[in-house]
Amino acid sequence: PGGQALRNEIAQLYDSIDPDQVLAHSGAQEAIFNFMNAMLDRSDHVITMFPTYQSLFEVADAIGCEIDRWYLTQDQHQWTIDIDQLKKLIKPNTKLICINTPNNPTGYTLTNQQMVEIAEIANQSGIYIFSDEVYKGLELDGIERKWFVDLYDRAVSLGVMSKAYGLAGLRIGWIATKDKEILEAMTKFKHYTTICNSSTSEYLATIALKNGKKILDRNLSIIRKNLDLSDIFFEKYRDLFQYNKPMCGPIAFHCMKSDLSINEFCNEMVEEAGILLLPSEIYSYRGNYFRMGYGRTDFENNLKRFEAYLIDKKLV
Ligand SMILES: Cc1ncc(COP(=O)(O)O)c(C=O)c1O
Repeated sequence: PGGQALRNEIAQLYDSIDPDQVLAHSGAQEAIFNFMNAMLDRSDHVITMFPTYQSLFEVADAIGCEIDRWYLTQDQHQWTIDIDQLKKLIKPNTKLICINTPNNPTGYTLTNQQMVEIAEIANQSGIYIFSDEVYKGLELDGIERKWFVDLYDRAVSLGVMSKAYGLAGLRIGWIATKDKEILEAMTKFKHYTTICNSSTSEYLATIALKNGKKILDRNLSIIRKNLDLSDIFFEKYRDLFQYNKPMCGPIAFHCMKSDLSINEFCNEMVEEAGILLLPSEIYSYRGNYFRMGYGRTDFENNLKRFEAYLIDKKLV
């Protein structure tokens, strides 16, 4: 399940979780794969928030589950959710609602009230919630969000060192849940994937979590600085872009208001200018959206290069 010292540290992140309700994994990816393989079968219906991180629907799809997408909707300058739409998607065999909050790629995050509403909907039909919360802790409105597992007994909360903490090389992730069946099934399943994690990584992750607030504050200050520059940039070029400022974390999903294919645009730009944006096609998402990152300290320089590229191509 992971070393005791690490699980003690992880449990402290939650209001209602004991260390023995935590299972450490080799990254978040292993936990997603193991959870779905241990808990789902082909007769199950799964609802997944969309767009989302690919494996949150692909693993269930590979198992043979029927999948429905619960789409985030686009407000004037923001992403939002439609709770009634979620209710309509529920079927008698719905086993799981798969949430990704804060969301990759949009940077949208649920409010605590919305989380309570979703938990109530799931509870009415005994549905599990798997909540990928790997970007949690970087809320730009300064309001701390609950973990789903603190709101609902049939929830699984996913965390990791690689996203909000920026320590991707450690490959340490975890799930927390109060559901004994899930804990047992996932513990057994891990014997067939990695058996145990690197003890060196677990040791370093434990130290990082002991200093978690310091790390999150640093990362948030980088994002805030970059977003200040981004606000100015997208205001200046508002005829070409729809700016969807993120609510949490270092990524956002903006729209290019042009007939150009966003896929071709992103491919050409990475080849010609070395600037990487992820087009919506990568997310199996319609429209001319692209994901942009805000987590790096060289953002200002890269934004200048992006602007120079747009000018050079006579797009602005
Ligand atoms: C939302 C989300 N969940 C899970 C993962 C997987 O994380 P890891 O690479 O740490 O296993 C990612 C990675 O990009 C992600 O964006």
